[in-house]
Amino acid sequence: MVRETRGNRLFFDGCDLTEIAEKYGTPLYVMSYNDMMDHINELKKDFIDAYPDTKNRVAYASKAFACTAMYKILDKAGMSIDVVSGGELYTARKAGFPAERIEFNGNNKQPSEIDSAVEYGVGRIILDGIQELPLIESACKKYNKKMNIMIRITPGVAASTHDYIVTGKKDSKFGIPLDEEILMPIVKEILDSKWLNFCGLHMHIGSQLFTNDAYLKALDVLMDWAGKIKEKFDADVSEVNFGGGFGVRYTDEVRKPYKYFLDPMMELLKKRAEEIGIACPDAVIEPGRSIVAEAGVTLYKVGQIKSIPGVRKYVSVDGGMGDNIRVALYQAKYDACIANKADETCDDKVTVCGKYCESGDILLTDYMLPRSVKAGDILAMYSTGAYGFTMASNYNMNPVPGVVLVRDGKSAWMIKPQTYEELTQNMVIPDII
Ligand code: LLP
Repeated sequence: MVRETRGNRLFFDGCDLTEIAEKYGTPLYVMSYNDMMDHINELKKDFIDAYPDTKNRVAYASKAFACTAMYKILDKAGMSIDVVSGGELYTARKAGFPAERIEFNGNNKQPSEIDSAVEYGVGRIILDGIQELPLIESACKKYNKKMNIMIRITPGVAASTHDYIVTGKKDSKFGIPLDEEILMPIVKEILDSKWLNFCGLHMHIGSQLFTNDAYLKALDVLMDWAGKIKEKFDADVSEVNFGGGFGVRYTDEVRKPYKYFLDPMMELLKKRAEEIGIACPDAVIEPGRSIVAEAGVTLYKVGQIKSIPGVRKYVSVDGGMGDNIRVALYQAKYDACIANKADETCDDKVTVCGKYCESGDILLTDYMLPRSVKAGDILAMYSTGAYGFTMASNYNMNPVPGVVLVRDGKSAWMIKPQTYEELTQNMVIPDII
């Protein structure tokens, strides 16, 4: 466990978080190198090394947390990455991430994004609609490059999670509907093109999932279509992407090992491939949250405290919905601790709010903290490594906090905090006013 209490202080990957807050300032995202590596190593062992006859790969979903240093860590670990925008691709290129280990996803890829993906020579483009095909082909002609194409299908399976993060059900803006008239012409166009190489099928059913049943149902449906493709075109699906979505611990959730999801899926993949009469496809997964969520802690400084008699006690901190929109957007729940009072009993029920001008800017509701909490204390909110920094905003013209990497007692910036100058540098006063 990278998080531990020593005396009254909370430590994270060997670093005293109160000292980190003093040294780097607050609000601050802190990422643990060792926690991320634990998850990466679990994946290597249980998904790659456990299946030595395959070319299984892990394409980390950048949307959970991306920056040049993160891409460097993933590159050194031999991982692939999934990108969904020109910006993620640009960041990966800037970090020198190898093109062939990049998979380009997304539901409305822009012509300029497709152009730079082909120019860089990404390993896979994951097709989300037929309109993307002519764009990819013309970029291939322009750069004289052939592209590997996977098709993202919508398996029509509803996973049980928050409605906003369900993606695999039939009524979804993502993926290609499983309809003969829609899917088969796309497969044919790819097979007929000298610029495109048909690799296989992709699915992603949702996020923060704890049971494997929806994954298995969706994979079964996907393999029915692999069978239909074999029958109609005698073409083999040689890769299957299972997507991401493996659940993590925010408060009292019980995290399942990757094996729990992946072993039965690998078994089903093999069985269905045999039935169809194709070689067992290589499997790809796209975990994001499960690699970085628990590796992140956000540090805030406590400011104003307001007790409303008979109602509640508000403890304000110097960040909020700008650095973590997940509470307001998904009613997400978190755990937290006072990093400089880590050994004190939590005997006071408080509501921790942010500094943004919005009543919904609440981080923790009716949460137990020590009665002694006062201005200047450091609040550490756990499991904020995924979809925190990457969903941050400049609401109220607050700069986005920086990210510090901690590893075995050492610390260093991964991303420096935004400055007021950077906040305003693209602003122009037009001469028509
Ligand atoms: N692959 C695809 C195609 C995806 O759409 C996603 C997430 C992933 C992989 C990674 O899923 P993960 O392993 O991170 O669960 N902002 C929301 C989560 C949105 C997820 C969108 N897609 C949140 O903060 O909970």
